[in-house]
Amino acid sequence: MKVSVWKGGAQGRFEQFDVPREPSQTVLDVVTYIQRTLDPTLAYRYACRVGMCGSCAMTVNGVPRWTCRTHVDKVVVKETLQIGPLKNLPLIRDLVTDMREFFDKWSRAKGQFEGARTRQDDFAAVDPRSDERKAADAGIECIGCGVCYSACDVVAWNKDYLGPAALNRAWTLVQDERDAGTLERLRAVAGDAGCHACHTHMSCTERCPKHISPTAAIAGLKRAVAKAALKGTL
Ligand code: SF4
Ligand code: SF4
Ligand code: FES
Repeated sequence: MKVSVWKGGAQGRFEQFDVPREPSQTVLDVVTYIQRTLDPTLAYRYACRVGMCGSCAMTVNGVPRWTCRTHVDKVVVKETLQIGPLKNLPLIRDLVTDMREFFDKWSRAKGQFEGARTRQDDFAAVDPRSDERKAADAGIECIGCGVCYSACDVVAWNKDYLGPAALNRAWTLVQDERDAGTLERLRAVAGDAGCHACHTHMSCTERCPKHISPTAAIAGLKRAVAKAALKGTL
């Protein structure tokens, strides 16, 4: 097949390579083949190769995807593939983006657990049947791949917007009954760059490889912020 791969920085261009088709070949296999046999200067990032680390996301034929679990058979069009870096993130080189702003926004959304117990306290017993636990479970498997962030138009328009992954993380913590930082977290996500900036386009939810719905999480945050505002606690 013919594979076009982005080379260089923001002013770079696509370069074309011929890559043999293999059974069960993934897009990451294709990039690895190019780097190992055709162009050793090609920069790209991966770690686990099994869909756990979140580091291998790229844009494949215009769509953001995790490449280690995307089979070529599913995405190839007329024996051609176009592979570029994730959108909405600064480009370092070739297929490698700078993820700092993505993770800085997790931090801005107070995406860290704030415990209230000491090591002398017993384990918290969280009822797996409670609505809060179910809501947290729905978003907890995020691997931080950035696919949703790259798919979100609001991120493209508004560089300050916290984005779907950081807001999804904030929502899982708001639902965590052991967490003591809810009010501060709701304040962090309530501003212009927070949950109210989401236009409910659903691209994040459509693209998330872990079948998480950041759209639902953001809707939950909007409700929680409105409730806190009505109570006068924000
Ligand atoms: S639902 Fe919201 S966060 Fe998700 S892609 Fe649309 S605007 Fe972005
Ligand atoms: S919500 Fe989904 S698409 Fe977004 S970073 Fe997490 S796993 Fe990736
Ligand atoms: S290499 Fe780890 S998720 Fe793809």
